[in-house]
Amino acid sequence: MRLCAPTLLCILLSLFSGKAVDGYYGQGYWQCYYTGDLKTIEFLFSWYFNKVEYLRYNSTTDRYTGFTVYGEKEAAELNKNPSNSLYLYVDELCKKYRDEYFTAVLKTVKPEVTVSSLRSEPQSHLSMLLCSAYDYHPKGIKVSWMRDGKVVTEGVSSTEELSNGDWYYQIHSYLDYIPKPGENISCVVEHESLTRPLIQTWERPLPVDQKNKLIIGIFLMVLGIALAVAGFLYYMLMSKEQTSPGIALEPTVSETSSQASDQ
Ligand SMILES: *[C@@H]1O[C@H](CO)[C@@H](O)[C@H](O)[C@H]1NC(C)=O
Ligand SMILES: *[C@@H]1O[C@H](CO)[C@@H](O)[C@H](O)[C@H]1NC(C)=O
Repeated sequence: MRLCAPTLLCILLSLFSGKAVDGYYGQGYWQCYYTGDLKTIEFLFSWYFNKVEYLRYNSTTDRYTGFTVYGEKEAAELNKNPSNSLYLYVDELCKKYRDEYFTAVLKTVKPEVTVSSLRSEPQSHLSMLLCSAYDYHPKGIKVSWMRDGKVVTEGVSSTEELSNGDWYYQIHSYLDYIPKPGENISCVVEHESLTRPLIQTWERPLPVDQKNKLIIGIFLMVLGIALAVAGFLYYMLMSKEQTSPGIALEPTVSETSSQASDQ
């Protein structure tokens, strides 16, 4: 391969002039890495041949690094001449992308917080609650648990702040605890997008027997209403039937009246 200053154009040329027909595969791609505040940027350009990265430009060092014998030779050659620097792409690509597409995420975004129950073991009386905060930005959140107004320290564990891969993050905090009746457990989330801590209280689902009682109660109520309506309709029907002979009598009355007028 002829030594070619690795610019975008050069890469395209080597791809199209390549020997793809014979089964060789050349590939080059650029990447922009940003810190959480989007201020520090690293531009990388990698060259691959048959899926092996053999050469990489790194804007932080402003140098080329070779990863194969050929790559090392080429890197040494390229590093000799400052005009081979690709540093301008930090501004031309990465900053442009940041300003055009990523300004929205420079703003802080509030998390969606949910509290749910993970398991309940009747034998051990142990329960586990999960507090999840989704889709916030930027990284840097505090999730804690409160039980009847006091901060819980025991039985608390948490995942790292996980990147969604789209500038947003999520985190999951677990609480192992022994439930007590009537207690109040809340998850407290602190993040720079929130003016005050977000408190999400665990809404306990009704215990099964209480739920059954509620269902039976509703059933009886509906049955009662249905019976009342049926009774009312029956009453209406019966009272109508009692008045209908009266209506049936009317022609007789008019008959008599017509008979009376005839006379
Ligand atoms: C680029 O160079 C810097 C400084 O040596 C280094 O910290 C960073 O890990 C390099 N990036 C990559 C992807 O190799
Ligand atoms: C439970 O505790 C939280 C935080 O201490 C509080 O905001 C919430 O009002 C309490 N709820 C009840 C039903 O007591």
